[in-house]
Order: sequence, then C-alpha cells, then structure tokens
Amino acid sequence: MLAREVHDRIGSGLALALRRLDMLETTAAGSDPDAAARLQQVRAAVVDVLCATRQVTSALRDSPPAVTPFSIEDALRGFVQAMEISEPIVDLRVDGVDGLLPAAVADAVFLAVREAMRNAVAHAHARHVAVHITWDAEELHASVADDGDGFDPARAAEHGSTNGLLGMQERIQAAGGVTTVTSAPRRGTRITLWVPVKERNTRHV
Ligand SMILES: Nc1ncnc2c1ncn2[C@@H]1O[C@H](COP(=O)(O)OP(=O)(O)O)[C@@H](O)[C@H]1O
Ligand SMILES: [Mg+2]
Repeated sequence: MLAREVHDRIGSGLALALRRLDMLETTAAGSDPDAAARLQQVRAAVVDVLCATRQVTSALRDSPPAVTPFSIEDALRGFVQAMEISEPIVDLRVDGVDGLLPAAVADAVFLAVREAMRNAVAHAHARHVAVHITWDAEELHASVADDGDGFDPARAAEHGSTNGLLGMQERIQAAGGVTTVTSAPRRGTRITLWVPVKERNTRHV
C-alpha cells in the first residue's frame, strides 16, 4: 500500500513536474541560455528524486530475500533504509541466531513485522517506532510499538482496508503463532507476535 502511495502521489507529482519543465525549457531555450542551463540543473535534481522514489517503491514491494536462511535483521534494516525517512525514528533490536529459524517462520515474521512498521510509518504520525525481535530454539517474540495516533482495531476491520493487518495475522497463524494488536485513538499502537520455532511447541500465554 505504501509502495502504491509513494508511487501514485510522489512519483506522479514528479512526473508532472518533469512535463512542466519540458514546456519551460522549450520556451526558454531560444531566449535565455542562462535560464536554459539552470532549468537543466532543476531537471537533474527532479530526475534524481524520481529515481530514488522508484528504488523505494520496488524495495517496498519486494518479498523477502530469496536466499534462505536470510537475516531478518539485515532485511528489516534494508527496508528502513529504503524508506529514507527521518521520522519516525525506528529503533530496531534483534536478538537471535538466524540459523535457528525455519525459513517459513523467518518469512512470516519478516513480512508481519515489515507490515507493522509500514503501518507505523504510513498511518501513525509517530515520532518513534520500537521494534524488538528475540528468539531461541523454542520460540520467537516480536513487538512493534509506535507512539502515534493509534486507532480502533475493531473499527478498522469494519471499514475494510485491513489487508495488511489481516494478512499479518493469517501469516503468523499459519506458522502456528499468535498476533495481538493493542491500540486506541491517541494512545499509539503495539503489535506483538509469538511464534513457535519448534513444531511441537503449542500456544502458551
Ligand atoms: N500503527 C498504526 N497507527 C495508526 N493507525 C493504524 C496503524 N496500523 C494500522 N492502522 C489503521 O488500520 C488500518 C488498516 O491497516 P492495514 O490493514 O495495514 O491496511 P492499510 O495499511 O492498507 O490501510 C489503516 O488504514 C489505519 O487506519
Ligand atoms: Mg498496512
């Protein structure tokens, strides 16, 4: 969704700016060589941003790295970097040995945590997002907590557009785990995940 937002809003805005520059350049070209040169610089700057935007949208759309086992921490840090945001500040702490996680668990957790982070960035107007993931050979715990606007999870479901949250819960459930969403208007949002690492594990509180 954020990929689409970035693409539709920023990408299209920049494309429009380029078309206007085209028109300006045509008018300015004959009359003022100096203005034409400056317009050229503006064009280069706009093209630069357009390229950066495309990199972000493709990074946002990317599925987890094809190589398994991959590093959840590296993948999430790559995601944060690709967004090139200054706010919210994302504090990411990962404590676990990648080799301990079955690929299916690593995939599910990466995608769920990324969606929770994406939501915190896209919807919360948060200043901070704290992301903690920790696991051993038995189980994994993850939390994504922002200090933003919060929302009413029950009403979000009523109003449709909960593909991200539903998808997250379905993925974690398919991995045998449990998701909780704690949020209230103006109280920030906290998503927690618990996932068994060993199959024989069953849900506990
Ligand atoms: N961290 C958050 N802070 C504030 N609102 C949120 C947050 N996460 C989700 N929401 C709200 O819940 C809605 C559903 O989220 P989601 O299922 O991921 O769909 P989408 O992100 O595509 O809108 C969002 O549109 C938003 O209104
Ligand atoms: Mg979402």
